[in-house]
Amino acid sequence: MAFLFNSDAARGAIFREIFARELPDLQFVGPGQPVDPDKVRYLLTWTVPADISRYRNLEVLFSIGAGIDQFKQDSVPEPVAVVRMVEDGIIRMMQEYVTLGILTLHREMLAYRELQKQCAWQPLAVPQAARRRIGFLGLGILAQAAIERLKPFQFPLAGWSRSKKQIDGVTCHHGTDGLAAFLAETDILVCLLPLTDETRGILNADLFSQLPAGARLLHVGRGAHLDQTALIEALDHGRLAAAMLDVTDPEPLPAEHPLWQHPKVAITPHIASVTQPETAAHSVIENIRRHLAGKNLIGLVDRTRGY
Ligand SMILES: NC(=O)c1ccc[n+]([C@@H]2O[C@H](COP(=O)([O-])OP(=O)(O)OC[C@H]3O[C@@H](n4cnc5c(N)ncnc54)[C@H](OP(=O)(O)O)[C@@H]3O)[C@@H](O)[C@H]2O)c1
Repeated sequence: MAFLFNSDAARGAIFREIFARELPDLQFVGPGQPVDPDKVRYLLTWTVPADISRYRNLEVLFSIGAGIDQFKQDSVPEPVAVVRMVEDGIIRMMQEYVTLGILTLHREMLAYRELQKQCAWQPLAVPQAARRRIGFLGLGILAQAAIERLKPFQFPLAGWSRSKKQIDGVTCHHGTDGLAAFLAETDILVCLLPLTDETRGILNADLFSQLPAGARLLHVGRGAHLDQTALIEALDHGRLAAAMLDVTDPEPLPAEHPLWQHPKVAITPHIASVTQPETAAHSVIENIRRHLAGKNLIGLVDRTRGY
């Protein structure tokens, strides 16, 4: 039985060492290494390899990232279980980044960046955190972990998900019918949705028009959630006051794109949270053990929902 690691060599070396220690009976196969395709039961990758059908006994396809939207679903044979990456390193980094983004937007750091360029020493008024309402699109593993970190600041916290939720200290909305009420009370909107047919393009002019005037956007989902033209319009007309984007469409954003130079926008190159090989290897091993024992897999994707 073999595990095929189809990602970068640096992370592969760490995975190999941990697998050798923890699962010595499972053959670990790195990229380009020969393997009998019939022996491959598990495959870890970012994109689905074109020759996936040669692994006739493949049972679990692991994504090296937290999302699976990069997988072309039709290219994954039906009986194969698809699993996204759920691991402590990703969770911790997202907690840091969301805290950084919320405080950046709350404390007007983008406006100060522009004032600094003019050598202008100009204090700006800021509401108390208890009056700045934070709303999360998506209340999954990463949003809930970020929310825990934000609680001590005393921002009013809300979120929106597909199914009904109850989370301590968080006003929870759900479903299409719950979206308008959620948006109307959100001063800083955080997008932590998966990219699916239902959520593609969700951050658009119509959605921005339902936020209070002067709201801010922290986008850490996927580039294709956002209508970038609508964002620029909303910023230029004062409907939105600022935006921090970790994801864009395309990535990288072309040098001539107006978002790069926009005074009300901060951009980072999809680094909010990155799979950490030490913790990720342990989480994949845990899932392989669960699979071998016939237990439920952590991060198993519902292929009909798309996340
Ligand atoms: N920028 C980065 O570096 C980075 C890193 C990691 C992840 N991400 C992004 O973060 C996303 C979320 O990750 P996660 O692990 O927190 O995912 P998750 O645990 O699967 O949570 C997804 C959340 O979105 C909600 N949702 C999905 N479709 C919806 C819809 N149509 N309407 C309303 N709510 C919907 C789900 O609702 P239910 O709870 O009702 O199912 C759930 O609360 C990833 O898919 C990826 O796009 C970005």
